[in-house]
Amino acid sequence: MPARDHLIVALDFPTAVDALVLVDRLEDQILWYKVGLELYLAAGPSIVESLRSRGFNVFVDLKLHDIPNTVAGAVRSLSTLGASFVTVHAAGGRPMLLAAAEAAAQSTHPPQLLAVTVLTSIDPQTLAETGVLDSPAGQVLRLGALAHAAGINGLVCSPQEVAQVRKTFGPESTLVVPGIRLATSAPDDQSRTATPSAALADGASYIVVGRPISQSANPAQAAANILDQIASADEQ
Ligand code: C5P
Repeated sequence: MPARDHLIVALDFPTAVDALVLVDRLEDQILWYKVGLELYLAAGPSIVESLRSRGFNVFVDLKLHDIPNTVAGAVRSLSTLGASFVTVHAAGGRPMLLAAAEAAAQSTHPPQLLAVTVLTSIDPQTLAETGVLDSPAGQVLRLGALAHAAGINGLVCSPQEVAQVRKTFGPESTLVVPGIRLATSAPDDQSRTATPSAALADGASYIVVGRPISQSANPAQAAANILDQIASADEQ
């Protein structure tokens, strides 16, 4: 697959104008954009439509986590926008995951649902403070199994667990991996990070990159560097 098929750029911006400025600066290098809470809440569903009308695939990353009826309704609403990927929190539990999967399956244009396992910003101590005494990897595999059993075939996990997740859930799983940093980039608030090539070599289907591109002095060059790394990982 071309390198562009593996890269999702996170548009974590306060306004649609800021987001579209980055999109323009990246020109035709990128096929996938991710709209998260900050941008979606500021710009509304029209930002998804703007990106779709420019021909991009859109990942709507709102990490739904509520009672089953509410999450099913949210999945139905997002399905009408033409989102390719939509996230739900696996920690919402089996009934919520089943309701989300059923709502997606009944949509005219079903998005692929991705279950968020353990956020890439969470380290073992932070996880323990939430009452989960297992390691992040153990909890990722537990939540991944729950999501799979509920009919959700895509998972979001950190680069540090992706090899184990790929081995456990097999080649059909869509594994989306944020927490990507170049050897030279700052970790920011991320804890469980790796480089683009390491994440892909370990089995990521897609990597999500935000600040290493969006906060770079030259975003087009940063994206090109990452695409080069993806292409060389593909050749190995
Ligand atoms: O700027 P950075 O590359 O850290 O952005 C990562 C993106 O991936 C953010 O939009 C964040 O919300 C998202 N994400 C994450 N960890 C998850 C799920 C999504 O960092 N487990």
